[in-house]
Amino acid sequence: MQKVFIGFFVFIYSISNVCAQHKTNWLGAGKIVDPYQYTQVKHEFYNNAAVSCAHPLASLIGAQIMKQGGNAFDAGIAVQLALAVVYPAAGNIGGGGFLIARKPNKEIIAIDYREVAPGNANKDMYLDKDGNAQLELSQSGRMASGVPGTIAGIFSTLPSAKLNFKLLIQPAIDLAKFGYVITEREANSLNSNKNAFIKNNSHTPAFVKSISWKAGDTLMQPELAETLILIRDNGAKGFYEGETAKLIVAEMKQGNGIISLEDLKNYKAKIRVPLSFDYGDYHIYGFPPPSSGGIILLQMMKMVEKTANIKKGFQSPEATQIMIEAERRAYADRAEHLGDPDFWKVPIKTLSSDAYITNRISDFTPGKASKSVDIKGGVIKESEETTHISIYDKDGTMVSITTTLNGGYGSKTVVGGAGFLMNNEMDDFSVKPGVANMFGAVGGEANAIVPGKRMLSSMCPVIVTKNGKPAIVVGTPGGTTIPTSVFQSLMNVIEFGMNTDDAVNQPKFHHQHLPDEVYFEPKFPESLRNALIPMGYKLTSRASIGKTEMILIQNNKIEVAADRRGDDSVAGF
Ligand code: GLY
Repeated sequence: MQKVFIGFFVFIYSISNVCAQHKTNWLGAGKIVDPYQYTQVKHEFYNNAAVSCAHPLASLIGAQIMKQGGNAFDAGIAVQLALAVVYPAAGNIGGGGFLIARKPNKEIIAIDYREVAPGNANKDMYLDKDGNAQLELSQSGRMASGVPGTIAGIFSTLPSAKLNFKLLIQPAIDLAKFGYVITEREANSLNSNKNAFIKNNSHTPAFVKSISWKAGDTLMQPELAETLILIRDNGAKGFYEGETAKLIVAEMKQGNGIISLEDLKNYKAKIRVPLSFDYGDYHIYGFPPPSSGGIILLQMMKMVEKTANIKKGFQSPEATQIMIEAERRAYADRAEHLGDPDFWKVPIKTLSSDAYITNRISDFTPGKASKSVDIKGGVIKESEETTHISIYDKDGTMVSITTTLNGGYGSKTVVGGAGFLMNNEMDDFSVKPGVANMFGAVGGEANAIVPGKRMLSSMCPVIVTKNGKPAIVVGTPGGTTIPTSVFQSLMNVIEFGMNTDDAVNQPKFHHQHLPDEVYFEPKFPESLRNALIPMGYKLTSRASIGKTEMILIQNNKIEVAADRRGDDSVAGF
């Protein structure tokens, strides 16, 4: 277990008084989570319950909720709300997400609370008069936002929870009201986005201050606390109607935003039928469209399963090559075939059938790179700031949640008077179908903008059973790299026999069909690169891939890892 000291006591008298009140308010005497001093725990074993997510405070809150009698759904609600405060880059109430879960009675549920295109959206809304894509409009500022889904998603899972909602939201309210100390990584992130916050807001959000942020500073978000109180007291209507809805629409009118009161009132989370498939003794459940995550994962795992290449082992040139080729082919299908199934006929049966998948990989030549120009399809570039929560409780409930604002801090626009960031998820649509965007990637008609339609996602929350029993909860942020990160983390456990810490943290690689390159993390071994280059692969070094949170249940123990690439942390008991 690695512990990293990142917290600081706040010595100002008035703040200390607030702290004392704060600590006892939300979790009861003797059950304190201290927002002014906390540690990161990266890898641990527990007997009863565990949480892994992007911030230590949110993980501790989730574990504490389960200690107080809540189940994994209670923890999922409390952790998402806490992350909306302590991890503003991706935790959110102004974004959307997907939840997949398995209850102790074996029921599987999948809840889609992806954002939708506003009623006044149209497929050419980001084109100028000459038909050129204006990507700055889909990526930042008020026009970039879809109608948020997170609060509707949270209230859709509430019937599966046990505790009173007021208890679940109170930690988030107190963290927003009284503040929490930020880490060095958070300070740097806020500082580097300062100009974008100034540019995209007509008021000064809590994330901007005159001097630079530094580790140990306290971030308070009083307006966000008031919004959370409205949600606590009025339920989903505290967000989608009344004061908060009026503030969202007023913020839209400060610029070129198009979300209306009607769009907000009409937003609904949807129940989806999960995709599931076998891999050896394991049964894997992934999220269906409008996420591409589950189908890409299914295709990649089925393409490599039982091949001689994969049996050569972790980081062997043979296994790595077939994984790259599986990635290339699965991503080629993404842009052409995938979109919101309520608006586009997604050929999901064909794409997931054994015959199709066997045929898809049949032209793979061992020792020789395929060429993406020979493989139909394309891919849309997505920003990589998203966040994942893995939870397991003492009754055997598995909850896997991936939620996002899209880019880091979403549209960078904070709703004036309401204190929360809006998403820039409209950029996940194909802004101009069939034409390469500024990242050299293309999307298709399947993912064109239509009012009320959900934009295609790569988010890939996953739960896994083994011989009918809970086995793995996993997911990650990372834009288009999400399915490959989940694929490689799962292969590391299931095929290569690693523990969760290694499975998550071993260097990853990514091929997304176009551009025709293999991206690799800095620690990807040189010997492996030297084996791949003569096969014809173009290798490109890049920054870290994903921040994976994984729980493995085996031998009556719960083993949990939080990715070492960020401030991520586990908690449990
Ligand atoms: N915005 C990231 C995703 O949904 O894939």
